[in-house]
Order: sequence, then C-alpha cells, then structure tokens
Amino acid sequence: MEIIITSDYEDMSRVSAEYIAREIKNKHDLVLGLATGDTPIGTYKHLINLHNEEGLDFSKVKSFNLDEYVGLAPLHVNSYNYFMRENFFKHVNINQENVFVPQGHIDDPEQFSFWYESQIQKAGGIDLQVLGIGRDGHIGFNEPGSSFASRTRVKALYKQTIEDNARFFNHIDEVPRFAVTMGIGTILESRKILLIANGRSKADVVAQFIEGPVTSQVTASALQLHCYATVILDEDAASKLTRKEYYNWVRDNKHMVQKRVGR
Ligand code: GLP
Repeated sequence: MEIIITSDYEDMSRVSAEYIAREIKNKHDLVLGLATGDTPIGTYKHLINLHNEEGLDFSKVKSFNLDEYVGLAPLHVNSYNYFMRENFFKHVNINQENVFVPQGHIDDPEQFSFWYESQIQKAGGIDLQVLGIGRDGHIGFNEPGSSFASRTRVKALYKQTIEDNARFFNHIDEVPRFAVTMGIGTILESRKILLIANGRSKADVVAQFIEGPVTSQVTASALQLHCYATVILDEDAASKLTRKEYYNWVRDNKHMVQKRVGR
C-alpha cells in the first residue's frame, strides 16, 4: 500500500483529484469506481475544476458507484444517485449512458445485484476504484464481518453507520437499515484502488486498516491484499499511524522507488 499524507482536507482533495485525472488522461475510456460521503466532495470539486479549466474529458469514462440505500428512489435527496448527480455528474461531460449507480428502489435488489456485477464485467472490470472509509472500517457498505469474497449484494447496516449517516436525514428512524453494495471481492478485482480519508474521527480506523491485521472486522484492511492500493490522508486522519516517517520518506523519494519497481 502506498500511503500519501497531505496537510489538510483541501490538499488531500487536490492530490486525489490529480491522481484520478492522470489515470483518465492515460486511458480516456477509464472505468472508474466512485464513492459517496463527505470525504470525496472536495475531490469531485477539483475534478470539476480540471474539467472546466483544463478540459479534462469524461466523455468516454464509464463509472460504477459503490452503493445505494435500499428503499430510496434515485430522486430522493438522501439517495446516493441524487448525491452523485448534484456533486459530480451534472457538472462534467460524462455520458449518462456510461453512468452506473446501484438502484435501491426496486422489487428485487438481489436480482439487481447480479445484473450490476455483469455490467462491471461487460465494461472490462474497474480500472480505478475510489473509496472512502466508515468509522467502523467499512468500504462501500461492507460492514464488519463481510466476507472478503463477497460480491454486490444487500447488506444490513451496522448501528454506528446508521448513527453516523443520520446527520443527512431529519430523524435517525428515516435512515435505511439496508443497502446494496459492491462486495469486497468486487472491489479487490479493481486494477487500482484509491482510498481517501480525512479528520480525527477516522484516525483510529485508518491506523487499524493500514497497520493492523487483515480482518473482516475492519473490511478496509482487505486493501492490504491488493497489489496496487494507494491511500491519501490528511494529517488528522494519519495522526495515529506509527510509521508516518517511513511513508513520508517513500513519498518524497518516489522517483527512486518508481525506477526500481518500474511504475
Ligand atoms: C457511507 C458510504 C461509504 C463512505 C462512508 C464514509 O457509509 N457508504 O462509501 O466511505 O459513508 O462517509 P464520509 O466520507 O461522510 O465520512
């Protein structure tokens, strides 16, 4: 895992957007996995700026979102479909036909999950998956105990996740109890993974998934099994890592490292 520690949220957002932009410039028809939450909003803003100011072209990009609440229609203000449209899709030149966000407001989410996996396969697999992280260590909505082999499916949400996400709803009882989410197995098949995290509230879980054991109790720790995972943090989220000095040395001497591994 490559760990990049940036100074603050703004810096984390800029560095992660530049990373994503480089991947798009290298492969115009990149298959991009996308995440929701407060964390990636700044990254999306920077990508929108790169589109407006430097012509970053999304016309051939295909996107697959990680997850969606079961029971919320795509136009519901708390749905992830709505979030993505408002915070990203409507501001760039991505082709609507190339946008895939799980549907939660359907009769048969299980059937939908099989279809969603088949669309990812049809697109040739995900080139770069962007992730945030929940305070219980989840990626997507893969709550503690999720199998590392899991595929897109319906998952019951953990109490802490429901409490954390209640801030977006009028009342905690309105927070859906289930979500459709890509599985850990689905995520691990992505060619590259980029996880971003900021703030002190993420510091414990960030230290656990990077420096702790690989365990389904902290599903982000599955990234330790991936051969091309990058983590971009702000200082606060990185504050409980014990090998910060090493990560910073590698970041600052990347040109030497790259020469050796041929990246
Ligand atoms: C939700 C999403 C995750 C996201 C997490 C953290 O549970 N399903 O994909 O990473 O929230 O959100 P935030 O970035 O708001 O802390």
